[in-house]
Amino acid sequence: MTGAGQARPAALPAGSAGTPWSSGVRRADDGALEVAGVGVAELAADHGTPSYIVDEADFRARARAYRIAFEAAFAAVGTGVDVYYAGKALLTVAVARWAREEGLRVDTASGGELAVALRAGVPGSEIGLHGNNKSDTEIGRAFDNGVGRIIVDSLAEIDRIADLAVERGVVAPVMVRVTTGVHAGGHEYISTAHEDQKFGLSVNLASAVPDADSPAMTALLRILERPSLKLLGIHSHIGSQILDPDGFEAAAAAVLELRAALAARTGVLVEEVDLGGGYGIAYLPGEVALDPERVAKDIASSVADVAARLGTPLPRFSIEPGRAIVGPAGMTLYSVGTVKPVTVGGDGEEPFTRLYVSVDGGMSDNIRPALYGADYHAEIVGRSSDAAPVLARVVGKHCESGDIVVHQVMLPGDVRAGDLLAVAATGAYGRSMASNYNLLLRPPVVAVRDGASRVLVRRETEEDLLGLDQG
Ligand code: LLP
Repeated sequence: MTGAGQARPAALPAGSAGTPWSSGVRRADDGALEVAGVGVAELAADHGTPSYIVDEADFRARARAYRIAFEAAFAAVGTGVDVYYAGKALLTVAVARWAREEGLRVDTASGGELAVALRAGVPGSEIGLHGNNKSDTEIGRAFDNGVGRIIVDSLAEIDRIADLAVERGVVAPVMVRVTTGVHAGGHEYISTAHEDQKFGLSVNLASAVPDADSPAMTALLRILERPSLKLLGIHSHIGSQILDPDGFEAAAAAVLELRAALAARTGVLVEEVDLGGGYGIAYLPGEVALDPERVAKDIASSVADVAARLGTPLPRFSIEPGRAIVGPAGMTLYSVGTVKPVTVGGDGEEPFTRLYVSVDGGMSDNIRPALYGADYHAEIVGRSSDAAPVLARVVGKHCESGDIVVHQVMLPGDVRAGDLLAVAATGAYGRSMASNYNLLLRPPVVAVRDGASRVLVRRETEEDLLGLDQG
């Protein structure tokens, strides 16, 4: 176990640039893939397929890399930073413990995520609670467990949290989630003045009334009026799978401006600014993830410049990476079933053959291709093959034509039923967005470390399904 405070190089795991696989992935002499010293045949025999496989050392290394890179960059400009692991990407008791052991805190977005973080022994003070529609029960549980920050998302919620805090005789620590008009994701960011989405309170005037306060300023002022609330700071999350740091810098500048405006108005200079998550990863061979060292330095130097321009001291910062910590650490191991060549084209188009390779899972264990058109990389991992590669599409076993796991990938032409197939970089938002569609059983989450595997979340059973069904 690594102590939280222990200094380590802030580099990403060796070999992680340009590959979507975790750093513990190797091809053995017989061509079979190994993860952290465990062969895929053994994983399949011990745990069945499909299974989510998580490389523990890789997760820990990425958690450390983010923490150390941000700590160093923000220390260099004279302030501190906390890294919250965004549990929505994948949260199990063991995963929350790993995050904590690597010096991260945990960001939760529901009562369920909060329950898992608490079960893992994460102190409430190191947990954040998000949500645009938190229930009274969730808020009450946050109070009961001394949750360190509740991120408020609406004016109505400010009053609800304040009233509940009065009832309970507590002072609730809150941040305000603001929207800056900066939206990022993929390779670029856009900045728009208007917001038309459910999260946060806009820093821009959305009102026809001249000189009206922005919703964000209104929220901050309202919190300051309520003695049962302690205003910790301002929160901004701009998007996900971001590969260009400019968006973070633009949003941070807008937040610091709002903070300075609040200080000018009230004399209250809030202590913290949270810049959310969204750090992008490589999903395909050749793609390059956002480098934590580079992005941390860019953001730190940019916020230092903005704070100097505004004449305000820097706040303490926090960030909430999820995907960048667990995405590349995970892969999904499937068994191949039906293999079917389909001739595509005609009507003037040159016909070509696409090999449909069906696996024993699909959109229920990874909804991202169907939901976002997300691309993934797959390989046949149980053996080597000299067969010429053919254009393939990996599909699931659901009764839906959009049940695609990998839209397009070259697989050996001799791919056949019984082969093991792995999809890379499924650690984030795979298990956490899994469903029971077609009453498939959700796969287990299996951790691999130092040549041994262990089940973190067991495979669902038909008894689980029937147990929920009250007949
Ligand atoms: N903090 C907040 C407030 C968030 O809303 C999110 C993600 C994160 C942190 C973590 O973002 P990350 O570092 O993992 O990008 N299901 C989608 C992603 C939705 C993310 C929603 N919020 C996907 O599969 O791509």
